[in-house]
Amino acid sequence: MKQELEKLRDKAIAAVEAADDEPGLQALRVKYLGRKGSLTALLRSTGKLLPEERPAFGKRANEIKAEIETAIASRSTILAAGEKETGAELDVTLPGFRAERGTIHPIARMLNEMTEVFTGMGFEVAVGPEVELDKYNFTLLNFPPDHPARDMQDTFFVSKDVVLRTHTSPVQIRAMETRKPPMRIISPGKVYRHDRDTSHSPMFFQLEGFVVDKRISMADLKGALTVFAQRIFSEDTPVRFRPSFFPFTEPSAEVDIGCIFCGGEGCRMCKQTGWIEILGSGMIHPQVLRNVGIDPNEWIGFAFGMGVERIAILKYGIEPIATFFENDLRFLRQF
Ligand code: PHE
Repeated sequence: MKQELEKLRDKAIAAVEAADDEPGLQALRVKYLGRKGSLTALLRSTGKLLPEERPAFGKRANEIKAEIETAIASRSTILAAGEKETGAELDVTLPGFRAERGTIHPIARMLNEMTEVFTGMGFEVAVGPEVELDKYNFTLLNFPPDHPARDMQDTFFVSKDVVLRTHTSPVQIRAMETRKPPMRIISPGKVYRHDRDTSHSPMFFQLEGFVVDKRISMADLKGALTVFAQRIFSEDTPVRFRPSFFPFTEPSAEVDIGCIFCGGEGCRMCKQTGWIEILGSGMIHPQVLRNVGIDPNEWIGFAFGMGVERIAILKYGIEPIATFFENDLRFLRQF
């Protein structure tokens, strides 16, 4: 009887491994393990054995039962997988499926590169909320209520006192409120403006930066931003500072680089001027320092802010700006 049991095991396993479809497998389960199956029948006949032989026989029979169950389950998995992949039996010699590799988004890559230039100069990174209080986005940055300068930034209002931040400058206020000078901070992040054309998107990224310290002058601002522009574009890129206006800086300057498309001769990209604007900057307005409780007689600083897509558009020659946000893999995979 013991021999019979082992023979039955070998037959059952061989049959399971040869089964070529799920119904065939289920039929084998019934044939061997079912209520009227051959293994079940053998188990029922243990009475024919000597009493001392019965436990070992029962134990072995149960082991075999489990073994057949396992064989059926794994054969079933193999059959299912084979069906899905090829409609036929699993062919273990076929090459596997290659995992798709992602790439870093060009804006993230640009931001990393810009951040690295500034952290190399000793700037720390800070962030703030995208849904911002009007107070931080405007009032404490020295935009008086109803001042026309508020119209420079096509604001999305969430409520009367809450806006989608139109620039990263509110992070200046948040950082100065919570830290003690001296400080050197950059702040990357998303900003929102009601504006859309080939070079404007309602959502875009800015990189803000500012320094508060003693004995800081316009020369420090010019030095830091010239190094930045030349590290991002090329070492011999011409940089110029042009007087401008922002409510939170005084004096204010816009920074231009020599047009990288025409080398300064004048083209469509630089509107025939030979120069391309890349950022806004200036010495932090004393009123802004006062607004956050920093004494402007003791401390002074400079600040700057720029659009990240704009730098990427110039660096990679990509237009329109919407290309960055359409998630077209053919575009994104090029980076
Ligand atoms: N926040 C300004 C803008 O978005 C840029 C800026 C930042 C200008 C800091 C001066 C100083 O246009």
